[in-house]
Amino acid sequence: MKIEGKEYRTIWFDEDKKIVKIIDQTKLPHQFIIKDLKTVKDAIIAIKTMEVRGAPLIGGTAAYGIVLAVLENNDLEFIKKSSEELIQSRPTAINLQWAVHRMNNKLSMVNSDDLFNVALKEAKEICDEDVKFCENIGLNGLKIIEEIYENKKATINILTHCNAGWLATINWGTATSPIYHAHKKGIPVHVWVDETRPRNQGANLTSYELNEENIPNTIIADNTGGILMQRGEVDMCIVGTDRTLSTGDVCNKIGTYLKALAAKDNNVPFYVALPSSTIDWDIKNAKDIPIEERNSDELSHIEGVDENNEIRKILIYPNKSKAMNLAFDVTPAKYVTGLITERGISKASSEELKKLFKK
Ligand code: MRU
Repeated sequence: MKIEGKEYRTIWFDEDKKIVKIIDQTKLPHQFIIKDLKTVKDAIIAIKTMEVRGAPLIGGTAAYGIVLAVLENNDLEFIKKSSEELIQSRPTAINLQWAVHRMNNKLSMVNSDDLFNVALKEAKEICDEDVKFCENIGLNGLKIIEEIYENKKATINILTHCNAGWLATINWGTATSPIYHAHKKGIPVHVWVDETRPRNQGANLTSYELNEENIPNTIIADNTGGILMQRGEVDMCIVGTDRTLSTGDVCNKIGTYLKALAAKDNNVPFYVALPSSTIDWDIKNAKDIPIEERNSDELSHIEGVDENNEIRKILIYPNKSKAMNLAFDVTPAKYVTGLITERGISKASSEELKKLFKK
């Protein structure tokens, strides 16, 4: 998608310098900085500090992290240790371990002279596949928006949480892909963007990327969705996910569950958009999903630009107050209207998911 009219992906490989390039998302929307990742350690730090974030992009970065590991030292022990460190860099998004396992499976089949070329090819394939999957998610989700538009014949108001946009994937996004496709087709859409405290991915990233694509959007405080739904000002919700169980339970950014409850109470359809790489086929009980707890500094401090356009971080809480920062919650399948995947729309149930993916 575009930034200042220029097409970008969120991650790519510089063939000449043999390094990975990312857009540093900790500086958006105030500064657009392309950063180099030269070692697997750089990739691990980028994931931990959320210079890259969003489940599919974390997966893509981990895949390129393995490429960088192979370039540094193609000894299998080093690749194994790097793989473990990558997997531990963030616990909730399953795309991370999925990508690392896929890379290692591929590498286990080749001899050491071919490791780099095979790793690079596989990392590119993981990213290209994500782009294709997200595009298909958009085309499948478009059908739902078209149906609502046929009845309403006026602007469709869509509420989204966090950033499940193109910045969270390699391109297109998951939750935003149907929105981009509807906009391209000329269907009038307006997006209610949850600010998404504490890191403000909605305000800083979703609103930013929608602005760059000229899609009307309004940032709202995280608790505003309920009253908007009561007033009939939300036609549908679409969110992303970091891990969806085969049972249809959806783990996503903290606060998603409360939006789903409000949607249920107000008969607003609540959709979750995801590529199949985000499905966890193993864990059956939502309580077993590892929920990341991040530093409470992310709550007690806030970042923005000052009058000189410099990024500053300030304390907003009482000095002595304790704070707790759980990064994700789980929305039970019963509150999910449907899962928009690259293969089609599925009910949030193991029977339907298994049917769609022939497991
Ligand atoms: O903590 P983040 O910013 O990585 O969380 C991102 C989300 O919760 C997204 O909704 C999810 O990863 C889906 S991205 C298509």
